[in-house]
Amino acid sequence: MRPEPILPVPGRIGAKRVGILISGRGSNMQALVEASRSPDSSYQVALVASDRPDAPGLGWAREHGIATVAAPPGKAAREAALDAALRDAGVEAIALAGYMRLLSDDFVARWRGRILNIHPSLLPKYKGLDTHARALAAGDLEAGCSVHIVTEELDGGEVLGQARVPIRPGDTPATLAARVLAEEHRLYPRVLAEYLCR
Ligand code: GRF
Repeated sequence: MRPEPILPVPGRIGAKRVGILISGRGSNMQALVEASRSPDSSYQVALVASDRPDAPGLGWAREHGIATVAAPPGKAAREAALDAALRDAGVEAIALAGYMRLLSDDFVARWRGRILNIHPSLLPKYKGLDTHARALAAGDLEAGCSVHIVTEELDGGEVLGQARVPIRPGDTPATLAARVLAEEHRLYPRVLAEYLCR
């Protein structure tokens, strides 16, 4: 019997292969995928992976023809599965998009300089959770989002780009989150694409 022909990896020549990690709805993942489908994009999405098999974003990715993986529970097993899936998919850079787990130092070291995250605050302000409530409680006049390189320090790596929005009288964490999220969807694809051209 003749062996199966080896097919080239699908995708555009020269476009970097990106893996996206999500935990939930995946609206930033969708923005990254949609931008990647423009003919001159510097990246293509090779894999969407989640720590949660029920993450709504996984279903969206599958419906849009993207390979998906749900990692098993337990930190060591989860990270081993993610690492293997990302490597099998030929991924060159990872975009965290609402991935709600802290990555281990080992994982970060293995992918050093090749993991980006989007965070809903103007870093270095408000690392961690509840960023919008904290900005409102502080009486800030503006808020925003940041794309940064992931290091061992939570939300502490080099900031690659930011977008700002005004805080309006009467804002709640929810109204502010919605205003910031619209900017996230513009900022992340642009900054990721630029970073991969560096
Ligand atoms: C976004 O606000 C992002 O900045 C933060 O988590 C949220 C994820 O939302 N890291 P989505 O899953 O991309 O819709």
